Amino acid sequence: TPRFLKDYQPAPYQIHTVDLYIELDDERTLVRNQMQIKRHGDADENEPLVLDGQHMELQGLWLNGEALNASRYQCDEQSLTITHCPQAFTLTIETLVNPKANTALEGIYKSGGAFCTQCEAEGFRRISYFLDRPDVMAIYTTTIVADKDKYPYLLANGNCIERRDLERGRHLVTWHDPFQKPCYLFALVAGDFDLLEDRFVTQSGREVALQLFVDKGNLDKARFAMQALQDSMAWDERVFGLEYDLDIYMIVAVDFFNMGAMENKGLNIFNSKFVLADQRSATDDDFFNVQAVIGHEYFHNWTGNRITCRDWFQLSLKEGLTVFRDQQFSADMHQPDVTRISNVRLLRAQQFAEDAGPMAHPIRPEKVVEMNNFYTLTVYEKGAEVIRMLHTLLGEQGFQRGMKEYIARHDGQAVTCDDFIAAMAAANDTDLQQFSLWYSQVGTPQVEATSNYDANSGSLTLTVEQRPASGQQHPPLLIPIGYELLAQDSKKVMHKGVLSLTQTTQQFTFEQLNEQPVVVLLTGFSAPVKLHFSQCEDELMTIMVHADDGFSRWEATQILFRQCIAHYYQDESFSLADSLSRAFADILDAEVEPAFKALQITLPGFAEMTEFLQDVEPQQLLNALSRFKLDLLGKQQAKLQAMYQACDQKLQSGEGHGAGYRALKNACLEYLVQGQSFDTEVTAQYQKASNMTEKIAALQVAASENLPCFEALNRDFFAQWQDDSLVMDKWFSIQARIEDDAVFERLEGLLNHPKFSMRNPNRARALIGSFAVHNPKYFHHASGRGYDWLTDQIVKLDAINPQVASRLITPLIQTQGFASSVQETMRKRLQRLQQLDDISADIGEKINAALVN
Ligand code: ARG
Ligand code: ZN
Repeated sequence: TPRFLKDYQPAPYQIHTVDLYIELDDERTLVRNQMQIKRHGDADENEPLVLDGQHMELQGLWLNGEALNASRYQCDEQSLTITHCPQAFTLTIETLVNPKANTALEGIYKSGGAFCTQCEAEGFRRISYFLDRPDVMAIYTTTIVADKDKYPYLLANGNCIERRDLERGRHLVTWHDPFQKPCYLFALVAGDFDLLEDRFVTQSGREVALQLFVDKGNLDKARFAMQALQDSMAWDERVFGLEYDLDIYMIVAVDFFNMGAMENKGLNIFNSKFVLADQRSATDDDFFNVQAVIGHEYFHNWTGNRITCRDWFQLSLKEGLTVFRDQQFSADMHQPDVTRISNVRLLRAQQFAEDAGPMAHPIRPEKVVEMNNFYTLTVYEKGAEVIRMLHTLLGEQGFQRGMKEYIARHDGQAVTCDDFIAAMAAANDTDLQQFSLWYSQVGTPQVEATSNYDANSGSLTLTVEQRPASGQQHPPLLIPIGYELLAQDSKKVMHKGVLSLTQTTQQFTFEQLNEQPVVVLLTGFSAPVKLHFSQCEDELMTIMVHADDGFSRWEATQILFRQCIAHYYQDESFSLADSLSRAFADILDAEVEPAFKALQITLPGFAEMTEFLQDVEPQQLLNALSRFKLDLLGKQQAKLQAMYQACDQKLQSGEGHGAGYRALKNACLEYLVQGQSFDTEVTAQYQKASNMTEKIAALQVAASENLPCFEALNRDFFAQWQDDSLVMDKWFSIQARIEDDAVFERLEGLLNHPKFSMRNPNRARALIGSFAVHNPKYFHHASGRGYDWLTDQIVKLDAINPQVASRLITPLIQTQGFASSVQETMRKRLQRLQQLDDISADIGEKINAALVN
């Protein structure tokens, strides 16, 4: 049953304190939960107390210390209802839960040998009966009891206040969290770990103990994450003036985790993929992501924990803002241009598709069946773009003024996106009424621009028009459009700034220009829109080299590529124009940072191109992409080869930042393997590499191009890494991407491989997700076999872990953009799923959305 934003009501009761006593056991974990509860002043005294609860066995119930008579309560699969409650009382509830049987990985579960928890969004209701909603904030004291040998570390939120040994080899630890919080931020961990410790002294001089818990033997792989944590803490003080508030900050890395990581107060729990990294086993991208996720969870301490969401429709309040903060952090720690381009690539490849698909929703959704389905690219990434637009409109200083006001007003509260916007507006004495439409609009808006230069008067007029995404309707948005005007001759920037588009159609005029400038629009990707602005090859080539803005320089090359790929797609005999080949040569020759050049020569992918074409025939698009790449190689093989070697030399001499040269080397490799006889070089790269970035790239291209060397390298890789679970995920992912006719037999074999487990989300994603996303040739096989295979796996996975199954179904529901016959083949599989009667609410919500029309 759906829930609606418009139906929000405050809870009739508030829970003020929570005292948990938890005796851990694999199958019978006892949870005693004692709460101080008060009825809300306005609530009717006959209002029953309805607590959420699932997958638990109720053992006992006491009100003010008296066992509650059976006539006073009712218990069903979803809730516990208590009638005739006094105005203020103590309620004690004892329940049993089964962590070992918990394969959904929500509530208390076991990961390897350790107990851990995941409560966001609605997992606490699997630990105890509770008002499981974020606007119920309480002070928690947590006592954990467990066997001391097996579980030497017993952790919960806040500060440790007691620790003692008990009889029968058990021990007890009590934690107290002085900050009130919603139950989704509760966490508990019990296990045996290696512990990496350090400290951080805050700007006001308080000392914070930093502790990172990892599986035994992994201490050296935790050092980078520790540094990232210290960098995050320093960055948030320097840029946002925000300081950490407890005496201890703990991070635990676990192998079984549904998402990336979780910001539980003082006790973050992470997917080990976003903690563990060393040069031998992790790629440069892995390092980047570890740092970004460590930052993200740390930044939540203020934007999420101290100030949280009133209800789950407001999720972007904390996620959009925190993603924006982690993006800014990454930009400061790396190259801002390169970081920004990566943000935009993710948005376009995945969020635009979501926005155009059946699950499209505003960044503040209005209707939700299963909340876990709304941890989306829209809420996170588009949400961050909306915050970025505010930042663009208000400037860094204005934005920080707004942040200060937001914190001054709402610290310790559960609030709404409107509260955030109101604080930003008040602090800057501005009206953000129109801006706030971004919270309710659906789909990617389109912006169309034309320019007209009048030589006589020296004036340039830009006419800019905005349109909602197709099928949508809403009043005009406030769209900030960054621009530059470049002089044709000197190539100097004559003007730059930000235009505020507030009307459906609007004109902007620049006077006193003594020549016709080259116009650069949407600099920095200043708004999450699709821009249509036709520019000739010469203009794009000028922008590519001379724009101040790095995003626009990159974007100019991408437009050239996209246009060219569209020609290849439409015309089977199309071949590369000399001008484009020259442009490509210019890119290769330009003196730019290697990481930037790597992005410039990386072609738009399959997913991105489906956004720019209509009625896509998948095989025809794949064919166009590979012909284009092959033609580029044909024209520029010598340059690509020279660049590949130059990068290799830089790397060997240890010059500059290795990551940039590795990225460029691998980007060249992608082209070079298309030609003949690169087998030896690939083998050499694989064998020489002392880092995972180069090693995995060699294996990857050997797999996707079916190189003769692949079998041997693949065996070697497996033999070397079979005991490293994160590297095994990479190996499974590569197997799923092999493009040959044996693919379906191979996939069956992999499902039965001793290293495969459907229960481990990372492993399931590595095999199933990679096939559906990175093997478009066979996923979109005309026979429908690829869709069948995915459907079969979704059915199996849904019975184990609905949340992960529901993520992996994405490529099957995003039928839009494909030719109607393709869509029909996909929908048949969705109909098959819809007919199954034991499908989860998670999958059900998506399938229904996909099949409505
Ligand atoms: N708050 C976490 C983060 O953004 C993610 C929690 C996701 N929860 C979920 N049920 N999918 O870091
Ligand atoms: Zn988050």
